[in-house]
Amino acid sequence: MKWTNSKFTLATLLGAEPAAVWPKQNEGIAMPTVRVENYGAFEVPAGKRLVLALVDEAGVDQLHACGGNSRCTTCRVEFLAGEPTTMTAAEKSKLAERGLSGVRLSCQIVCEQDMHVRAISRLEGSGRPDPGTRPAPTLQPEPVWVDPA
Ligand code: FES
Repeated sequence: MKWTNSKFTLATLLGAEPAAVWPKQNEGIAMPTVRVENYGAFEVPAGKRLVLALVDEAGVDQLHACGGNSRCTTCRVEFLAGEPTTMTAAEKSKLAERGLSGVRLSCQIVCEQDMHVRAISRLEGSGRPDPGTRPAPTLQPEPVWVDPA
């Protein structure tokens, strides 16, 4: 046990699992940097859904036709760096159902580390009248974390 790591020490003293302590995966990064190709780099509050960071911080006209519920795949992005090593069961199931690889669903990802992505599914050129209902602040459906492989 590292007594210099106050987060872990506090969790230990309180009897909590370290994973239950916020922020849980970002080694103390409260504002991860999300870099979006052709848009720039943006600090994002830890835990924010990537789809919302693309819209709010980066100003991308990101599609999210199903409202961030892992049903449509229009929120897909390509990762250039920092791809999360976990995935929600809902995302894994939807990507498999659609036969998609090399992309991730931004509505199923939370910003807990620095990331570099390419926005490949935007309102512009889509022929859609709008990007979709704004996704809720928290992951929908309730996340069950699985190995992406
Ligand atoms: S799958 Fe529809 S918004 Fe992500």
